[in-house]
Amino acid sequence: MKFEEMSRLKAEELRKQETVRILSLETSCDETAAAVIENGRRIVSNVVFSQIDLHELYGGVVPEIASRAHMEACDRVIDEALKGAGMKLGEIDALAVTKGPGLVGALLTGVNCMKGLAFAAGKPLVGVNHIEGHVSANYLTHPELEPPFLCLVVSGGHSHLVEVADYGVYRLIGQTADDAAGEAFDKAARVLGLPYPGGPRIDALAEEGNPDAFALPKPKTAGRYDYSFSGLKTAFINTVHGIEQRGEPLPKADLAASFRKAVCSELMDKAERVILEQAAGDGKGAFAMAGGVSANRELRRTAQAMCSRRKVKLYMPEIPLCTDNGAMIGSAAYYRLMRGEVADLRMNAEPALRLL
Ligand code: KG4
Ligand code: ZN
Repeated sequence: MKFEEMSRLKAEELRKQETVRILSLETSCDETAAAVIENGRRIVSNVVFSQIDLHELYGGVVPEIASRAHMEACDRVIDEALKGAGMKLGEIDALAVTKGPGLVGALLTGVNCMKGLAFAAGKPLVGVNHIEGHVSANYLTHPELEPPFLCLVVSGGHSHLVEVADYGVYRLIGQTADDAAGEAFDKAARVLGLPYPGGPRIDALAEEGNPDAFALPKPKTAGRYDYSFSGLKTAFINTVHGIEQRGEPLPKADLAASFRKAVCSELMDKAERVILEQAAGDGKGAFAMAGGVSANRELRRTAQAMCSRRKVKLYMPEIPLCTDNGAMIGSAAYYRLMRGEVADLRMNAEPALRLL
């Protein structure tokens, strides 16, 4: 039987099965990560191998180094995920892999690895959108969460406000016109001389600083629910250069705290606006956050304050599930598998894949 036909038939059977276990792999950027997930909601095992040490020297992710490191780590990370679950590959029902968006070479490594494994083991394979994975991290932390809900997706490449109308059904409400929130944090960190990745470092430093020490401009955007962070970033760079030109020492903690506050209040102001103005069409009283930046302490506090003010229920992935991991890919894959959306062997990496 051809792989495509086998996949389709097995997926059909799995829809009737009580417990479905997926082995998932994520290699879109600089984390090689694998997990075993049950019914899209329960983490059986979750292994993340970070390449940060390899890229730190260069101040950012070097694509060629990332691809090579994924290639070297894939098998080991998958073995560890299976071992952690106490399972053999034969006990896994389906496989899943991130197909985009991300670095093409990094994605290709994962896609090829899982295509080979699926073919050899005769298991159906699901290709997953990385951003949908981030959204799905919420299903792992909050097994009671179901669509519809409003979701702020904030990662290294995205600052989106989306309505999750149903599993796999999204409506774009707002997006950034320029830099993503994570990108803005990383650039601001670089200006302060902090090592890569900058977001978590700015966050930690900001905890000791005064968020009102420096006034930064409120971004202007064309759309009511859109974002823009490049003006804020330029204003921040100018402030830092001004201090340096005066020969004064940089009050790094105050600068980090002021920048973090400006970004977080902008992110949350627009989310609050949607909640106030789109009461009927939005997430019916549920607000979720997803992506690396949702690990930010100030953003989590600001979200809590906004949601209690507006009497909206807040959902956030636990911190280790905010940044890239394999578990979120396994969760997203489950709902695609239940709809019979399986990949064939022509599946390719899609570096510019969109959520909607
Ligand atoms: O979601 P993610 O792990 O990868 C992408 O899909 O892009 O997000 C990575 C981004 C980076 O820009 C990183 O600096 C940022 O998320 N980030 C943070 C924090 N943790 C990660 N930004 C601000 N505060 C944090 N605590
Ligand atoms: Zn990510």
